[in-house]
Amino acid sequence: MSLPELIPVNQVVLDGNEKKYLNQCIESGWISSEGPFVRQFEEQFAARMGRKHGIAVSNGSVALDAAVSAFGLGPGDEVIMPTFTIISCAAAILRAGAVPVLVDSDATTWNMQAQQVRDRLTSRTKAIMLVHIFGLPVDLDPILSLAAEHGIPILEDAAEMHGQTYKGRPCGGFGEISTFSFYPNKHVTTGEGGMILTDDEGLAAKCRSLRNLCFQTKKRFVHEDLGWNFRMSNLQAALGVAQLERLDEFVARKRSMGKLYTRLLADVPGLQLPLSSVEYAENIYWVYGLLLQEQVAFDAEEAMRRLRALGVETRPFFWPMHEQPVFRRSGLFAGECYPVAERLARRGFYLPSGLGISEAQIRQVAANVRSLFA
Ligand SMILES: Cc1ncc(COP(=O)(O)O)c(C=O)c1O
Repeated sequence: MSLPELIPVNQVVLDGNEKKYLNQCIESGWISSEGPFVRQFEEQFAARMGRKHGIAVSNGSVALDAAVSAFGLGPGDEVIMPTFTIISCAAAILRAGAVPVLVDSDATTWNMQAQQVRDRLTSRTKAIMLVHIFGLPVDLDPILSLAAEHGIPILEDAAEMHGQTYKGRPCGGFGEISTFSFYPNKHVTTGEGGMILTDDEGLAAKCRSLRNLCFQTKKRFVHEDLGWNFRMSNLQAALGVAQLERLDEFVARKRSMGKLYTRLLADVPGLQLPLSSVEYAENIYWVYGLLLQEQVAFDAEEAMRRLRALGVETRPFFWPMHEQPVFRRSGLFAGECYPVAERLARRGFYLPSGLGISEAQIRQVAANVRSLFA
């Protein structure tokens, strides 16, 4: 028996000016980070998000490393962050020698909440890492006022939030430093890539320096600080410029994908679907996630296995930080329990959600999902 052709979890759309700008790189010979598309992408991306400075880097994970380092966080400093996120967030904090302090997610938006952040504040809290999850932003105002009240800076991880707004203002505009990823499942991709945004001249200079091995302008190979090579190449930035030109169109496409999935799956009993909107934002469906409710007899792993057999590729939700073997081994987060994140990890997975998905594929995926519940 032959297997059905797989509908991939992500398909990219690269049919704008990508080829043209890449050709310009090749024809001019500018392929490294010194090429002109890097600065152009930084300026245009920062402007789009309403920020003064953009620093392009090699991915969204190292953007967090550079941000944590630019904040000067170190041993003994606590950073409040959600447990339900990618490991890059905790890794950046831990690599700096600082301490990640976790909070759970809201059961309907899957995002961190102000009350839990308040509960975890101590005199050692030196930053709050805000991470927006899957297409809906964190409810920012209560956390921003908490941070202002206590004089704590915000590091906003907007990796999944290209083109999203909170009460009409662009996400990526709310942290002392905000970061993005341009991995191919993002609304804007550069293959691999990331961006650091800030309005603060000093933080921008620090991030630029950290990204480039802390080379100095006068004595290049004499170093006052340790940095990394986190540079983005001109080739990647060329893709980014072309992609950014179409961000509004991409957001609209993702929204219609999300709406169609919701329409096709709304009456399936036992499925919790992503909220299409909340009072402060409309979902941009970075990915279209499903959560199996308690009455469903199988878990996410089983659902994903069955869908794969039907020709649908899926991905699990994040596995919470407090349940990561790499942290457990060192005694980190011992005895901590975050029931919403634990449920999301075991009962949640996402459907093919790339920009290149066709309506026919969405219908086929939805029909296959329905068949699991027949
Ligand atoms: C919330 C969040 N932060 C950080 C990252 C890391 O980005 P990258 O894959 O570009 O390193 C991701 C990746 O998807 C993410 O979802």
